[in-house]
Order: sequence, then structure tokens, then C-alpha cells
Amino acid sequence: MAELTEHINPNKQVKSKKRVRDYGEVYTPQHIVNAMLDLVKHETERIDSRFLGPACGNGNFLAEILRRKLVVVDSHYSKSQIEWERYAVIAVSSIYGVDILEDNAQECRERLFKIFEEHYTVFFKDKCKDECESIKYFV
Ligand SMILES: C[S@@+](CC[C@H](N)C(=O)[O-])C[C@H]1O[C@@H](n2cnc3c(N)ncnc32)[C@H](O)[C@@H]1O
Repeated sequence: MAELTEHINPNKQVKSKKRVRDYGEVYTPQHIVNAMLDLVKHETERIDSRFLGPACGNGNFLAEILRRKLVVVDSHYSKSQIEWERYAVIAVSSIYGVDILEDNAQECRERLFKIFEEHYTVFFKDKCKDECESIKYFV
């Protein structure tokens, strides 16, 4: 399967000094995200496990959780579009995030949607349903 791209540089930790000062905004690097999520690996690979990012930023943890869940959805349901859609929607809709900064919340939503869309397109390129655009409003 083609390598799926991530659109946000996961190694960029700070947007501005002001945001660090005002909001404590320092993003977690990818290797730490991975190490922390590995502590609950079983949960990150359970399609319907619920996760809340209480200060989610642009979604470093939530993006990796969704990616891990969708790898499981891909491996079990890629032969059936309807089943893939059903479980992928369950995966996305059990991930929640909150952030005080609107731009972070928006960036996080767009990031999760892109991950969903990229996985969907790999298997169902010509058959993606418009209804799945509604995923944008789940995340
Ligand atoms: C240290 S960053 C962590 C971001 C992300 N969880 C990560 O690990 O990359 C902290 C985040 O908390 C947000 N934040 C700060 N105060 C908050 C509050 N009172 N409620 C919700 N989010 C807040 C900031 O906007 C920032 O995105």
C-alpha cells in the first residue's frame, strides 16, 4: 500500500513565543506521541475505543490514534466498502478534542478529515460517496 502522507510537520513544536506564553502551546513530538500511545496500544487499535484530547492542539495525539484505528479498519474491511465506511465512521466518531484556540481546533478537524479521506481513497478511489464528506462534521 502507498505510504499515506501527513500534511502537518509533526516535528514543529512551537508556532510563536506569544502562543507559548499565553496558552502553553508546545506540541508533542511524534516519537513521544508514539511512545505514549504504545502504553495503551491495545486501545489505540480498538476501532470503537473513546479518546478525548482535552487540550488537543492541532491533533498530534488524535491524528495518530485515528491513523492506528484506520490501519485496523483497512486490514479487516477493505474488501467491502459499506463495512469499511461503517467501521471508519465509528473510529472517527469516538475521537474527541477540545482546544481553547479556534485555529487549533480547525486544524485538528482538517487533519483528521484528510487522514480519513486518504485511507478511503486508497481502497475506494472511484467510489467515494459524497455522504462521507459529512465526516468533516464528526471530527
Ligand atoms: C502543550 S500544547 C499540547 C497540544 C497537543 N495535545 C500536543 O500534545 O501536541 C497545549 C494546548 O492546550 C491548549 N490550551 C491551553 N489552555 C487551554 C484551556 N484552558 N482549555 C483548552 N485548551 C487549552 C493550547 O491552545 C495548546 O494547543
